[in-house]
Amino acid sequence: MEAFQYRGNELYCEGVSVAELAKQYGTPLYVYSQAALVGSLKALQDAYAEVDPLICYSVKANSNLGVLKVLGAHGSGFDVVSGGELFRVQKAGGDPGMTVFAGVGKSDPEIAQAIEAGVLMFNVESEAELASIARVAAGMNRVAPIALRVNPDVDPKTHRYTSTGQKESKFGLDIERALRIAETVKDLPSLTMIGMHMHIGSQITTVEPYAKAVAKGVELIAKLRAMGHPIAWYNMGGGYGIAYRGPEAKPVSEFAEAILPGLKATGCRLAIEPGRVIAGNAGILVSRVLYTKQSGDKRFLIQDAAMNDLIRPALYESFHRIWPVTVPQGLPAPPADYEAAIEGAEPWDVVGPICESGDFFAKDRALPPLGPGALLATFSAGAYGMVMASNYNTRPRAAEILVNGDGASLVRRRETLDDLVAQEVGL
Ligand code: LLP
Repeated sequence: MEAFQYRGNELYCEGVSVAELAKQYGTPLYVYSQAALVGSLKALQDAYAEVDPLICYSVKANSNLGVLKVLGAHGSGFDVVSGGELFRVQKAGGDPGMTVFAGVGKSDPEIAQAIEAGVLMFNVESEAELASIARVAAGMNRVAPIALRVNPDVDPKTHRYTSTGQKESKFGLDIERALRIAETVKDLPSLTMIGMHMHIGSQITTVEPYAKAVAKGVELIAKLRAMGHPIAWYNMGGGYGIAYRGPEAKPVSEFAEAILPGLKATGCRLAIEPGRVIAGNAGILVSRVLYTKQSGDKRFLIQDAAMNDLIRPALYESFHRIWPVTVPQGLPAPPADYEAAIEGAEPWDVVGPICESGDFFAKDRALPPLGPGALLATFSAGAYGMVMASNYNTRPRAAEILVNGDGASLVRRRETLDDLVAQEVGL
């Protein structure tokens, strides 16, 4: 079942009318589909079923406790990059033993917190970090399980801001350096190297970069084992792309086909860290048109959602579909015939109320005639949407709703004006 679809001219999330949700909870409003979240998790579990994978959902994509709880209950582990994310996983009832701790800058307190919680392993990004983990673990009389994050130097062919596996990137260790460091790990009794980690980028739409990375990983694992390291896990990271415009990304089964042969040759267990492919198309951001405005030849739809709610268009010039929640009379419902019907319609810039020219969701976008009060749905907003929201311009952050079948739960209430100043002290 498609998570978001039109019944007549009204957009539904599963069995729930999006317009009704907007009426009840206000806008801007994030709406997530539980069926879509679980469906994408299941697609990954199926694609890799023959190797019994550990799917470590990347919490950074959407860290709402309701989302984490649903995924954990359906067998997901987690990938965290901060003590805060680990705290969320535990709050949501996730299993730290199925959780990997990544990130280039882990602090001592975060390392201690993760050891205490019993994470499956640390993904280590530098010599200095390795020394910190060894020192903190030794001080706690514990042996910390680690994987080196290796930078395979492949081009993932994605946006420069989401490309992480090339030599010039701040992430990971190049292969020669990783081998040198691996030699030193043998002398550190508070560490055990049980895995190897790679993550080459995000929103990757072709499988070749993964195939290339795996080929390098297989060779490296043999070398690490020859040194005596008990490498039992191959963590392939995340990055599996999704459809923002149309079917631009390969299905997860094709990524699996690129990864599995090499992985099987190593005899390792597979971990992956998908974020966007699980949450991205499971969420929309609902906004309301406040005004329309013309400036020179430009036409603007000014809505109540802004770059503080969804920063991806401003930050990466990324494309998100924007469709009306209620399609105006006379037009077919999206997607197919609708897109054809409005092609060539006069274009709009969809912008928010923030005082920055970068505050836009879309530029020169064909939209049907919509006036003040109309509701808009911005699609593919379930990943890197709410998690990147801020209070810029002292705007309260949006509410979040999780839909399951015919039911909808509020999983984060809208911030109030008092919330906005609650942390400020000393007045
Ligand atoms: N593992 C590691 C080590 C990562 O750095 C990331 C994402 C993931 C897994 C999950 O990647 P995914 O499967 O979601 O592609 N804010 C950007 C994306 C930043 C991704 C950062 N790292 C965006 O909105 O496109």
